[in-house]
Amino acid sequence: MFDELESFIRSLFSKKSDQVVSLHEPTFSGNEKKYLLECLDSTFVSSVGPFVDQFERSIENYTGAKHAIACVNGTSALHISLKVAGVMPEDLVLTQSFTFVATCNAISYLGAQPYFLDVSNSCLSISPECMEDFLIKQTKKSNSGLIHKSTGKRIGACLVMHSFGHPAQLNELEDLCKTYEIPLVEDAAESLGSLYQGQHTGTLGDLGIFSFNGNKISTTGGGGVVITNSEKKAKKAKHLTTTAKIQGSYEFIHDEIGYNYRMPNINAALGCAQMEQIDVFKTKKRDLADNYKEFFNSYPEVDFFVEPQGTESNYWLNTIRLKDQEEKTRLLNFLNSKKIMARPAWKPMHELNMYSKCGRTSLVNTNRAYEQIVCLPSSVITSINI
Ligand SMILES: Cc1ncc(COP(=O)(O)O)c(C=O)c1O
Repeated sequence: MFDELESFIRSLFSKKSDQVVSLHEPTFSGNEKKYLLECLDSTFVSSVGPFVDQFERSIENYTGAKHAIACVNGTSALHISLKVAGVMPEDLVLTQSFTFVATCNAISYLGAQPYFLDVSNSCLSISPECMEDFLIKQTKKSNSGLIHKSTGKRIGACLVMHSFGHPAQLNELEDLCKTYEIPLVEDAAESLGSLYQGQHTGTLGDLGIFSFNGNKISTTGGGGVVITNSEKKAKKAKHLTTTAKIQGSYEFIHDEIGYNYRMPNINAALGCAQMEQIDVFKTKKRDLADNYKEFFNSYPEVDFFVEPQGTESNYWLNTIRLKDQEEKTRLLNFLNSKKIMARPAWKPMHELNMYSKCGRTSLVNTNRAYEQIVCLPSSVITSINI
């Protein structure tokens, strides 16, 4: 299958045998240059300017979220979302070990600690069964919130991540969070455009975030967005990301320790052009996934990861599961030796030094996913006909 896969990927991306096929590169086929030049001509290149507001409105219109707040990157958006959700120093935040490190770093920036739950095999995000079992057996309600019995620490929030763009089991997680009175924050960094029962990921929790890094479905170069339906939370997020400066006066008065996290106008200009094309990007990415799916139909030993039932995924990264770690490593080595940038999933967080002492449930599915998964080149192919 290895040689056939190499030829198939090369033909999909129209690359000759000596050319690199990247994992995910951006597409600039719309008004990117025009808006960037407008931005330069206006001299408004930093965190004040019309493109920032326009970009925020485009995210609200696209996702249906009532409020969007543009940030310098997805990590800062996560940091602010968790803070606005009420996470405090010493809290535990329920999350998945199967994620990119930014999810856990944002928790740590607040002096809180991740507590790792296993993932479901169907979507590679927090397993509601695992979370329910943990909540029933290991927590108790108190006046100060939900307490983890064995450490006495408060559970500050649940932070779920939509892996590779595939939506998590949001209804179940939302119900658990409501019952146990903990905020739900969605790390939708990878899943802009993905729908869960018709609703955009990021809009079901108390707050959600997207990343607009160069490797995402839509990019601002570097960038992130916080979304929420709560006006109060949106105001707080905007205030914190703009150095907590009191607006409406020329005086520099800041009423708390804030952050210089506001997205610059020049990045937002790029984002506005990209958001005009988001429907096309998503359709082409879903079409690419169909092509991969059809290819792997001939190889029953390979499991092509398909969108979970009731969802519509943006298929940010196309992923396959191989029989074991040895086979995964063999395929990764083969494709990379042929200049095809296939990648493994992230090493699970509980195996990284700084998070190795964090509390956790059994992580059988997490470990298996890491052992078996290979991510395949997934850029938008402009030549795919739709
Ligand atoms: C799951 C996840 N969370 C958070 C981030 C952080 O976003 P950024 O790189 O924009 O800071 C990323 C991606 O880069 C991500 O994949």
